[in-house]
Order: sequence, then C-alpha cells, then structure tokens
Amino acid sequence: MSRDRDVVLSVQGLKKDFGKVHALKGIDLQLERPGVYGFLGPNGAGKTTTFKIISGLISASAGTVSICGSDIRTEKREALSNLGILFDSPAFYPYLTGKENLEVFAKWTGLDSGKEIDSLLDMVGLARALDRKTGEYSWGMKRRLGIASCLLGDPKLMILDEPTNGLDPAGIADIRRLLPQLAGDSDRVIMLSSHRMDEVDQICDHVTIINEGEIVASGDTEELSRPKAVVNIICGDSLKAASILGNIEGIESVDRTGRDRLSVLSPGMPAATINTLLVEAGIEVRQVMENRETLEEIFFRLTGEGKNEE
Ligand SMILES: Nc1ncnc2c1ncn2[C@@H]1O[C@H](COP(=O)(O)OP(=O)(O)OP(=O)(O)O)[C@@H](O)[C@H]1O
Ligand SMILES: [Mg+2]
Repeated sequence: MSRDRDVVLSVQGLKKDFGKVHALKGIDLQLERPGVYGFLGPNGAGKTTTFKIISGLISASAGTVSICGSDIRTEKREALSNLGILFDSPAFYPYLTGKENLEVFAKWTGLDSGKEIDSLLDMVGLARALDRKTGEYSWGMKRRLGIASCLLGDPKLMILDEPTNGLDPAGIADIRRLLPQLAGDSDRVIMLSSHRMDEVDQICDHVTIINEGEIVASGDTEELSRPKAVVNIICGDSLKAASILGNIEGIESVDRTGRDRLSVLSPGMPAATINTLLVEAGIEVRQVMENRETLEEIFFRLTGEGKNEE
C-alpha cells in the first residue's frame, strides 16, 4: 500500500457527456510517483477529454479529480500549481527566442523562473537554440520547447497529449528518449496519451487502455504486454466444443472464429490439456495450434479496433 503523498493524480468515477455523446463513462485513475504512465486508446476514446477535465479546462458531468491532494474544482489554484500540461504544440511568439518565450510563459503563470529557464532548455536539448527565434524552430524543437514550458515551476505531474504526434521518425525518437529521462530519478509523474502501442511499450512503466470512454485494462506495461497464449483449434462440433471449454476454469474466453474453428484464450493452460479435454468429450480434434498474443493484439482485442469497418 502506498503512502498518500505518493499519489500525484487521483481520478474517480469521471463522466463527461457532450449532449447525447457519453464521452467518458466512469474513469478511475491513480498515479503514483515516480513513474511514466501511458494512456492508450484509439481515436475518440476519450483521452483528450480526460486531460481537459484534469486541467480544469472543461468540467466533468460527474466524478472527482485531485492533483497532489487538491481538488481541481474547489482548490483549482493549488491543484494547477502541481500540473504541467501540453496539448499539441503551444503557440509561441515566432519573433521571440526560445528563452524569451519561456520567460513570457513564466510571467503569465506568475513563476519566478530565474536561472531555471536555461537549465530547462538544456534538459530538453535546446541549449544551443535558446537564442534563436522560435519561428525558425522545427516541429520537433517546438515540441521540446512545449515540454520545457510544462516543466516550469517543477510540477509533480506532467501530462502530454500525444507528444509525438506530427513528428518525423527522428523527432519521435528524440521525444521517446527524452521522456523517461525527465521522469528519471525525479519525483515526477509523467502521463502521456498515445494510440501507438509500441510507443507506450517503449516509454511507459504503466499503461491504461481506454476505449469508448471506459477503461478496458490497466497495469504494469511489462505484465500487460507479457504474451498470452491463444490456442486456435479446428474441430468437428465447434459449438459443443465452445460450450465445454467455456465452462472450464482457467479459460478466459472462447470465440468461434469459423464453422469448425475456435480461438481460446487460456493464460495458464497448455494446448495439450485443451486437446485432451475435447477428445475426452468425444469431439473430433483436427488441429490445435498455440499462438502467442502480442501487446498489439491485446489492444486490438480489448478495443475491438480493426474488427469494425469505419
Ligand atoms: N466539444 C465536444 N463536443 C462534442 N463532442 C465532443 C467534444 N469533445 C470531444 N467530443 C467527443 O468525445 C469523444 C472523445 O473525444 P476525445 O477527443 O477525448 O478522444 P481522444 O481519445 O482524444 O481521440 P484522438 O486520439 O482522436 O485524439 C469523441 O466521441 C468526441 O467526438
Ligand atoms: Mg485526443
């Protein structure tokens, strides 16, 4: 059990309706420091909506959000003092340098930035560009400047909405390298949203998968991405086979994938055991194949992505 001081973000029962659209249907999150958390979901899942509510930009239809123990509605100033958030790329003044832009940012937010700005720009790899006008910055440099602006005031919680969106492969690699460093051994929690499985797998220690406003899985990235065994079976009476296997403890799900085909998810049960169970029940088994499910397949299975034609 963790101490309360380690809980940087607590979201409970968060709901958001936009007219008839139920964008969030009861989201719970508990983020503890230090850590890098991934918020993974397909387009329209509710990631940005969740982040907007966390940052107080829009209000929830139901539920609560607290940042370092302060409620975003009743103690907004205190809550926001612990939050740095980046949606897309913030608008910078193109005729000011990177450093000057951050100074303006700091003034707006009432921060006494002092030397902090130079070291922040260094941290995000912009030390050599701090005196260049941001109008000359590449997308990747602007994104890094955005990340630096989030770090002003040394917030305990940093939220980045699709931080690698729109970057070229080199820019993506850059940001992917930078983020774990920023969380590093500091006391900070970073939460980033993404619809890229490989990205979350690479950067984050924890992952929460959201689909259609609901959390469908959450946990340690390594644990969640540990391949699960899927056993594909070709057999005689697949209806009867499905009903037999569906009642066996240890078998998570049974899907009929064709007239004579079944796909069985069984985290702990070897394919040979399933074969024996069917044969003993008098079912003609023609083929049993064990496949390992990748994190990507888990995501697709949980979100139903790829099944439905858009
Ligand atoms: N201002 C709004 N008015 C009406 N519906 C909205 C509004 N903002 C979001 N929605 C709806 O809420 C749902 C969640 O949208 P959201 O932008 O949070 O998804 P997302 O996970 O960030 O998707 P993406 O990966 O495309 O950025 C969608 O169905 C969207 O159409
Ligand atoms: Mg979004």
